[in-house]
Amino acid sequence: MTIIAPSILAADFARIDEAIAAVQAGGAEYLHLDVMDGRFVPNITWGPKIIEDLRKLTPMVFDAHLMVVEPERYVDDFRAAGCDRITFHLEATPHAQRLLVHLRDIGAKAGLAICPQTPVALLQDVIEECDTVLVMSVNPGFSGQAFIPRAFEKVRELRALVDLRNPACLIEVDGGVSAQNARDLVEAGADALVMGAALFGKEDPAAELRRVRALLA
Ligand code: DX5
Ligand code: ZN
Repeated sequence: MTIIAPSILAADFARIDEAIAAVQAGGAEYLHLDVMDGRFVPNITWGPKIIEDLRKLTPMVFDAHLMVVEPERYVDDFRAAGCDRITFHLEATPHAQRLLVHLRDIGAKAGLAICPQTPVALLQDVIEECDTVLVMSVNPGFSGQAFIPRAFEKVRELRALVDLRNPACLIEVDGGVSAQNARDLVEAGADALVMGAALFGKEDPAAELRRVRALLA
């Protein structure tokens, strides 16, 4: 079954507990947490303290997406804050292989993200060390951007690589995902869909989540 990972970047932070309860009630498996540093991306979000506090609100899988330079400096803190899966950007560190191994050592699922301009071929020598590959289908930094259709081809290409070399690795797609493209993404090979504005922009995020789930059935 496809994993849905609501991105709370798009939620109202003054009512974050309600937003989390809504997507949990809607049956979301993961809670996607976008960490931005104002350097790797032109936006700033939150650090480990907020995640540690959110951890008390839900047993959902915490799926952290680090859009920060030098992610190796912060992963231990995010793990200690309660992140189960930690994904960093290939473009943000020269030592991705080492960091992937370290993430598994500290008990996290190890994820590697690629921006729209980064080819899938660059994952060839680290795919065995990945528990997740996250394909960005927008330029990272903001919720509510338009989906870049080239992501379909990248997911297909990645599906072939993953099936051959590491079938347990999850393929996650992030950016501009909605009821309009969810089914095509799953058919292309996606296992997990991050959804921000498409859920939290709706009056009833839980109902929209169930609608997306029904479209995928
Ligand atoms: C963007 C983030 C996404 C974002 C997705 O940099 O990585 O997770 O919140 O939001 P939507 O689904 O609105 O594009
Ligand atoms: Zn994200």
